[in-house]
Amino acid sequence: MKSIENRIHDALRIRQERALYRQLTLTEGLIDFSSNDYLGLSRSAYLRQEVENALKCHPYDRMGATGSRLLNGNTALHEAVEQLLASTHHAEAALFFNSGFEANVGLISTVARPGDVIFYDALVHASIHQGMKLSGAELVPFAHNDMAQLESLLQSHSNRSATFIITESVFSMDGDQSNLAKLAELAEQYEAALIVDEAHSTGLFGIHGSGLCNVAGVEEKCFARVYTFGKAVGCHGAAVLGSQQLRSYLINFCRNFIYTTAPDTAQILAVKHSYLYLQNNLNQRYRLFYLINYFNKRKTAFTARQIFGDGPIFGIQVPGNEACRAMAAYFRQHGYDIRPIVSPTVPVGTERLRLVLHSYNTIAEIDSFFTLLNDYK
Ligand SMILES: Cc1ncc(COP(=O)(O)O)c(C=O)c1O
Repeated sequence: MKSIENRIHDALRIRQERALYRQLTLTEGLIDFSSNDYLGLSRSAYLRQEVENALKCHPYDRMGATGSRLLNGNTALHEAVEQLLASTHHAEAALFFNSGFEANVGLISTVARPGDVIFYDALVHASIHQGMKLSGAELVPFAHNDMAQLESLLQSHSNRSATFIITESVFSMDGDQSNLAKLAELAEQYEAALIVDEAHSTGLFGIHGSGLCNVAGVEEKCFARVYTFGKAVGCHGAAVLGSQQLRSYLINFCRNFIYTTAPDTAQILAVKHSYLYLQNNLNQRYRLFYLINYFNKRKTAFTARQIFGDGPIFGIQVPGNEACRAMAAYFRQHGYDIRPIVSPTVPVGTERLRLVLHSYNTIAEIDSFFTLLNDYK
């Protein structure tokens, strides 16, 4: 016992010494240039009321789901909302997971296995790494968005029992987008199963916020897509979209689905009402893209520092954990919540401030951000 305590103590001490120590912070009262609540749906009084009304007249009077979907946790509501998700995202079937992290880990570790090969963009999310590691497949990264390198790797790794290509549609840390049309073309040509994590495009792009695979016209070419609800959808959870057969396979073999309590009624109703809202309301999206356009104009004119990203996620490179944290603290002192993304979350030397725009930000906030950035020494 003592040696475990010592080990934990040493690991934390080393983190502190290397300026890698992570801490929870409170953010109330600051200008939100950080959260993933892109459209402000998590704070929508209208949606909260809709969910409260729906809960009152809902036949399920239990607070929790009381068990796994395979035991007592399944309800007609879960299945109806999965159908709503499937029709919104133009797939045969959808399956809920308790989070995007669980969806990626569960999906990838269940469908891929030793003897397979997975090609993945070097910048994919930690949850994808976790799923890939658990799968036992051979893992082959390609340089970020480098389609030529991916193609040459696909050519040199034939003769595997199954091949997967995994990417995100909007990259969570760099804010740029993947070339989904080319990825789908390569997947078809090399008979690879394409998996796209749409976490940061769900609710924002495409018809009814159905994502970038919809914009690129590749929904049907994907083997599986992951949509998460904790970002623009404003609530919590995720779903894997794909064929009916994939859904049945996950229900039968995916441990992250089988051995966990199902999402509860309130969670499912929140997802349902956010999706219905997104079908009928474009105002927040228009407003967000108006702000993104404005930010991009200011960004182009601002030459003192390089700002990257296509929006709503942007980044400012500030190499070194301490330098990055100091700059975030400066913005915090001036009322902005802008998070430093430091190593090991990103590779050493690529530390950055991660900046996120929302429909509820203002032109004045953007202007004042650029003034502060300009003044920072
Ligand atoms: C690209 C990507 N995938 C998956 C996840 C995990 O989603 P969740 O927060 O629902 O667990 C995140 C979360 O930040 C993400 O950025």
